[in-house]
This record gives sequence, structure tokens and C-alpha cells, in this order.
Amino acid sequence: MPKSEIRQQIERLREEINQHNMQYYVLDDPLVTDQYYDQQMRELQALEAAHPEFASPLSPTSRVGGEVSKQFATVTHEAAMLSLENAFDEAEMLAFNKKLSDLLGIDSPLQFSAEPKLDGLAVSLLYRNGELVRAATRGDGQSGENITPNVRTIKAVALKLIGKQLPELLEVRGEVYLPLAGFNALNESQRQNNAKLFANPRNAAAGSLRQLDSTITASRPLSFCSYGIAQLEGIEMPDTQYAQMQLVKALGLPISPYIQQLESIQACFEYYRQIAAARDSLPFEIDGVVYKLNVLKLQKKAGFVSRAPRWAIAWKFPAQEVMTRLLDVEFQVGRTGALTPVARLEAVEVGGVIVSNATLHNMDEIRRKDIRIGDTVIVRRAGDVIPEVVAAVLKDRQPEFELPQMPALCPVCQSPVVQQEGQAAYRCSAGLICAAQRKEAIKHFSARKAMDIDGLGDKLVEQLVDLGLIDSVAGLYALSLEQLSGLERMASKSAQNLLDALEHSKQTTLQRFIYALGIREVGEATALSLANHFRELAAIQQADQETLMQVGDVGPVVAANIVAFFAQEENQKIIQSLLDAGISWPPIAAPDALDLALKGFTYVITGTLENYSRQQAAELLASKGAKVSSSVSAKTTAVIAGDKPGSKVDKALKLGVTILDERTFEELVK
Ligand code: IVH
Repeated sequence: MPKSEIRQQIERLREEINQHNMQYYVLDDPLVTDQYYDQQMRELQALEAAHPEFASPLSPTSRVGGEVSKQFATVTHEAAMLSLENAFDEAEMLAFNKKLSDLLGIDSPLQFSAEPKLDGLAVSLLYRNGELVRAATRGDGQSGENITPNVRTIKAVALKLIGKQLPELLEVRGEVYLPLAGFNALNESQRQNNAKLFANPRNAAAGSLRQLDSTITASRPLSFCSYGIAQLEGIEMPDTQYAQMQLVKALGLPISPYIQQLESIQACFEYYRQIAAARDSLPFEIDGVVYKLNVLKLQKKAGFVSRAPRWAIAWKFPAQEVMTRLLDVEFQVGRTGALTPVARLEAVEVGGVIVSNATLHNMDEIRRKDIRIGDTVIVRRAGDVIPEVVAAVLKDRQPEFELPQMPALCPVCQSPVVQQEGQAAYRCSAGLICAAQRKEAIKHFSARKAMDIDGLGDKLVEQLVDLGLIDSVAGLYALSLEQLSGLERMASKSAQNLLDALEHSKQTTLQRFIYALGIREVGEATALSLANHFRELAAIQQADQETLMQVGDVGPVVAANIVAFFAQEENQKIIQSLLDAGISWPPIAAPDALDLALKGFTYVITGTLENYSRQQAAELLASKGAKVSSSVSAKTTAVIAGDKPGSKVDKALKLGVTILDERTFEELVK
């Protein structure tokens, strides 16, 4: 091929890849599959490698990084990078609104442009004649660090602007952040490499961005969202904040999909409620909402005070991370005997609730985070996840503070604690002799996804075991009205209700029963596979390891757990007495008699369905032979989306996977 043609081919590929990037990151509307994109990228890489004379820092292939700096050069910001004033409630928002109205001498409602406040790092991007020439951190607001090679690796950042009319100069300000999926994956790989864990997505984003070796930054799935224009030359400046952002989007940079123009401060209240409600289902972390006076002329008139504009405010959510003292570490014994370290904390408000306990996960994690009793620690409570200790604040560390120690004896039954080879968990060795394990086994048995015994809550199970009324799940079905009515906080009406619920639970399914037994590592999915494969409980009880491994998702470890479970005489006895009590399930038809209309299809269920729990929906799909998976991939047949579906739907849209609503789902399983 002649040189000129190669050059053209390279140019064409770069244009096309840039266009796909724009569709994906800015418009959220990919036109091609990931595979196609990767293929174009590889083709371009091959051509550039064979013809280094055509290399360019603006090529999309340069996003893999490679540049290594000794230190970051200093950049002086032409316009200062300011921070924001905060508000925490409606009263403070009203005060902000009034102060602005007075200052501007305006009686009519002020208009605002609003968007979520991303929890990442502020970055300035400078484009000359449409090309990214510089990226810098905020630093102290007056000058920051030149991190251009690193920012180039972020796919959401356009290396070249697009559009017919490009500005001679454009400085965009925005937030570099790490989406939650990327954060979780990063910490998982840190864990596997025994490396330090990042406390939160923000810290991980900061650590990833300030790397002297840009290949490290390239390996972290950072993203970017614009929120303002600091300089513009060569095209006319739009006259509102909102229009500014539309221009930025048209030039090929991502802006918040949630941006809205609001007509009054009252509308700002409503917007806050909407974003707060959506917060937990967003695929990235936000810590509030930012409101900016929409009309630029008014912004100018309002001006600045020291480090923040008078025309903008951040309405922050209650903090999800707070500092408090770690008073002690205790160990909780779970269903399988595993001892989990639990932090006892000086009570503190996190994310709007008072917290005095938090999980420390396991001993490895404590060591990795170097958390000691007495430390000031950072406690985090995000969404409906249980609170956790994410880090220690080292400046408050005293030399006498010590790492918590795994006790040698079970804190509940005083039996020896053992660590099995190759396993992280420490366990109480007593099995069902240990009251804690017995209680957990009973709680598991009665749970909604297991035998679904309505009204048998955790507190009640603990009372029943502590009073010696039951010592295994078998005892549940022998409880009498007198025994139950005698319990604390138990009226005879609720005692009767519980008996009814117990009676009701006897009609179950083989899958639920197997799951309810609490065999180690046999979750709902495995229980379903076992039920469908063997169809009879006796067949599972008699199966040896090899036979068990013929079942789809049963590997050697799970098979060994199953064999070991049924080999225990105590377990056999319990199962027999459960059956004697009248627990039964409908027979499972032979596979050839089953209507497996959905065999070979894979579904993902997300969000809240109106008429089914996700578990029920999964059971229905599985009964038709479909596979139900928890993550969306190109192989997913369709995503069934209920209310508040979250990121799985975004992913499905990106991959072009069909999305079904509840009605269509019902048609499917009918
Ligand atoms: S506007 C002059 N908008 O919050 C206005 N900031 O607390 C400057 N941030 O340093 C900022 N999302 O890093 C603005 N939609 C948004 C934002 C946002 C996140 C960060 C930004 C800034 C900090 C101020």
C-alpha cells in the first residue's frame, strides 16, 4: 500500500474510533458492539506500529499510556479553580437564595442549573484548536499539577473536539471519578495482590490520577464529567450555564445526564429529593447536588467571595464517611462457625443513622488496613450496605494501640477456634453444639428464601435457643401454643400466627428445603440445580462426590461439603424429624416431561418487580429451563427490569441487550 493510503487509513480509523467514543461516553448511545470497537482499535494499533512515522499523541491508541514522568510540572490556572459553599438543609438553601436575590436586586424567582455533585477530583482540560493540549489538577486553586499524559488515558476525555465550528481555545472544568464497578474491581485485584485497599472511589481515583507512570492510570477505569467552561475563544459564549454545558456536549465532552434547568428555589428542593432517591442506584458516587445561577450575566454580577463563587452552592447529603473511635473488636460467630470481627465504636451518625457497630470483614482485611484498637477510624455507610471500617487515621495512633487478635476459643461456646489450611476464615470447631451456630442455622432455615417462616425473627430464634425450647430446626415444628405465649413480647395472637406460619411453611419446594438445610456453600442457585438434577431428596443424600459433580454448578469443594453434611448422623436425624413433621414438596417431573421453553436463554433480573420477588421471578424462569445470571454480558438474552433498575440496565443498553418489563416477563413464563 502506498504511504498516502496508509496515512488515510490511519486517519479514517482514528476518526471512526473517536466517533464511537463520543457515542459511548458522551451520548450514552453506542452504535457498535465492544467487539467491533476493539477490532478497529487493534487494526489501528497494528498500522501505527508498522508505521511509527504517523504516530500522534491525539490518536485513540495513545490512551494506553506509556509516558512516565519524574515529577509533575506546575500549571498556573488562567482562571482560579474555586470550591463551593455548602448547604445541608432547606433553610440553608433558602438563605442562599435570599442572599442572592438581595444582592442582585431581583424579586422574581431565580433560575438555576442543577446537577449531581460527583465525588472525584476537579480537573481542568485545555483545548487549542480542538486538540487536548493540557490537563491539570486543581492544586491550591491558583496552580495545580500538569497531568496531561494521565488524563489522555481516560476514554471519556476527548483528545480531539468534534463539530463544524471549533473554538480556538476552550478550558473545560470537570470531575474525574471512578465508577463503582471499577472501584470494586480495583479493590478486588488489590486484595488478590495483597496490596493496600482504597478506602473509597474518590481516593482510588486520586491515587490513579496522580501516577507518574501513565500506564498505571490507563489500567484504571476512570471516567470524566464536565461541569463548567472556564475559558472560551473563537466562538460565542452561550448566555446560560445550561447552554454552556450543551455546547460542551456538542463539542464531544460528557456532561451530566441529570443536568436540569430549574425555575425556582422550590424546584431545587424537588430536584434534591429526586437525586437523593436515585443515589443508591447510580453507578457512581455522588455526595450532593450543585446549583448554579443559570444566567451568566447574573453570575458575573454576583461575583466571588475568597475561594467560592456567590452564585453557586453544593447541597450536600449527610456524610457517608465519618471519623470515630474504635473502642474494641469483638467476634461474631456465623452459621458455618466463621468468626467475623466486629468493631465496637463510639456511637456516631453516618449517612443519617446512628452507628455503634461496623464490620471489619476478616483478619486479613484488618491487617491490610492496619487497624488497631483505640484508633480513630473512618466508618463508612453507603446505601443499604452494612457499615464498615475503611481505614485508620494514623495521626492519632498511639504506640500502645494493638492489632485485634483472633481468640483461641469460641466466644460463645469456648470450643477451640481453628483455621483450615488454605482458607482465610477462622471457625469455631464445635459445629451445631455451639449455640451461636445453632441460632444462625435456625435463622437461615426460616429465612424468606428458605422455608419462609413468617414472624420467626432473629430475636425470637435467640430467645427460643437461650431458653432451651429448641436446639435445632427440627424443634421448631414441635413448639406449642403454651410455650410460645409464655415468651417475652409474645401475645397469644402472635403465638398462634407463628404456629400457622410454621404449618404453612411445611408445603415447600425441594429447592427451598435443600437451601434451608444450610449446607456450606450451597446457595439458592446450587440448591435449584440439585433439585432439578436429582428430583428426590434421597437421591441427593445418597450421591457420592463424583455423582454430585455431574450437576452443572457443583465443583469438588461443594460436592465434598454436601457429602460431609449428609454423612453426619445428627443431620440425618434432623432431616428425618422434619419429614416426619410433615414437610413436603410437589414432585419434580422428569426432564423430558418438563416444558423447557426457555432452555438456552440467560436472563438478568434487576430492580423491584411489582408482583414477584426477584427470587420468585428467578424460580419461574429456571422452571422453564432458563439460566438466571447476576451480571449483564453480551451473552445475556434479556434484562428484566422492575422499578429503580440501576446500572444493569445501563449496561444492557450499552451492549444492545433487550430490556423487558414485568408484563413481558409474565408472558414469557406463562
Ligand atoms: S462547580 C465554581 N459542579 O466539588 C464552581 N463542582 O466542593 C466550581 N464537584 O472542586 C465547582 N461535581 O471538584 C461543580 N457538578 C459539579 C461538581 C463539582 C463535583 C466538585 C469539584 C469542586 C468541588 C467543590
